[in-house]
Amino acid sequence: MSFPVRRHRRLRSSATLRNMVRETSLSVNDLIYPIFVAEGSNIREEIPSMPGIYHWSLDRLEEELREVTKLGIPAILLFGVPAEKDECGTSAHMESGIVQRAIRLIKEKAPHLLVVADTCLCQFTDHGHCGVVEQHEHKEATVDNDASLELLVKTAVSQAQAGADIIAPSNMMDGFVQAIRSGLDEAGFESVPILSYAVKYASAFYGPFRDAAHSSPQFGDRRTYQMDPGNAREALREAESDVVEGADMLMVKPGLAYLDIVRMLKDQFDLPVAVYNVSAEYAMVKAAAANGWIDEKAVILETMTAFKRAGADLILTYFAKDVARFLREPSNQ
Ligand code: PBG
Repeated sequence: MSFPVRRHRRLRSSATLRNMVRETSLSVNDLIYPIFVAEGSNIREEIPSMPGIYHWSLDRLEEELREVTKLGIPAILLFGVPAEKDECGTSAHMESGIVQRAIRLIKEKAPHLLVVADTCLCQFTDHGHCGVVEQHEHKEATVDNDASLELLVKTAVSQAQAGADIIAPSNMMDGFVQAIRSGLDEAGFESVPILSYAVKYASAFYGPFRDAAHSSPQFGDRRTYQMDPGNAREALREAESDVVEGADMLMVKPGLAYLDIVRMLKDQFDLPVAVYNVSAEYAMVKAAAANGWIDEKAVILETMTAFKRAGADLILTYFAKDVARFLREPSNQ
């Protein structure tokens, strides 16, 4: 009988050997945990479509900060749920805005926790769009790019003033990195890095987030500013612009359905690449797990490994606390 010339199974024969030859590793340092802060008091309200994720009022936020810190998660991403909304999203850049107050509190209570501020207007505008809406006579309303940039810059600067460590603009207006970079520099924040949502698709996977952040567009959709899911080469143009404009890190969003884009950016650019494992990706796993249809821990770890294998250096995920816990269990050492 002839024997197989190649025996791939030799290196899979024991857990020790598998651990030794694994090409991809996952660390708690890869994780960024999103947190929703809400106006009001004594609020710790679970988001129905995102079990385990809460709205926190500032007077209770410390509980969450303590847990995140205890688990060794290095960074959080802040989303604000304001009480007041208007046409221009004024509460996005007020000194007394919910995000600005949250940042100050976090910097006081947990100074080592890196605060990434999501810089967008959709949670703060009454129409739910990510910028200023322009009405036209006989056409549908549109989002005015350059007018939105001004508000975005104000928002980013106010977040930096409050103490944000990283600015993460997510509204997909053209030129947003350049505008924010010069705004930050002029205000003396030349050392604050920009993590750009460089490649953000107009995705159905944001559904639960929009419920959570009360940020659904009240008319139309986001397809005139977020990317078409059918496009990959356009992602290179988007990312290239952000690199030229001074982004320090690039993000791809959503995650699982866009691993090819993560890989493209990793190969094409030398900046760190982040991936956003978004709300519906989280909700689907939680729902299946609640039904007993999947092994939740295994699915989560496999997903995170896939992000790393595709080239992500950082993962923004609602699973961050779960992952940090799993990584502490002896079987995962
Ligand atoms: C704000 C923003 C969105 C998400 C993050 N920042 C929503 C959107 O574009 O509608 C989605 C995050 C998620 O689904 O987890 N523009």
